[in-house]
Amino acid sequence: AGFTKVDLSAAEPNVLNVEKWRGKPIFILKKTPEMVAKQSEEETARDVVVGKDHFLVCIGLCTHLGCIPAYRPDRHDFKCACHGGEFDVSGINTLPPPPSPMVIPPFKIEGTTIVLG
Ligand code: FES
Repeated sequence: AGFTKVDLSAAEPNVLNVEKWRGKPIFILKKTPEMVAKQSEEETARDVVVGKDHFLVCIGLCTHLGCIPAYRPDRHDFKCACHGGEFDVSGINTLPPPPSPMVIPPFKIEGTTIVLG
């Protein structure tokens, strides 16, 4: 038990999908080509790539004290309302207090479907 399957083929760019896996929120966000073009190698290394599409996939919990950060589509980042922490669109912490990036869950890709767990 504990697997979650999500078909990525219908995802809209820059629209955050929140799935559930083992009681945790999972953020899935399809990046636009513009977002991919301007990101760093560190960010690209965290992408899940399916065909030519790049996705952020991470556990949607702030690495400070576990609140659920909100996506800001206009800024392409995440803001945690609890203590003001921020993460970029790859889930990397950019403003304290979060000490580390949001965590990438175990997964595998089957065609256009991501299987979490
Ligand atoms: Fe997110 Fe503290 S729990 S900044």
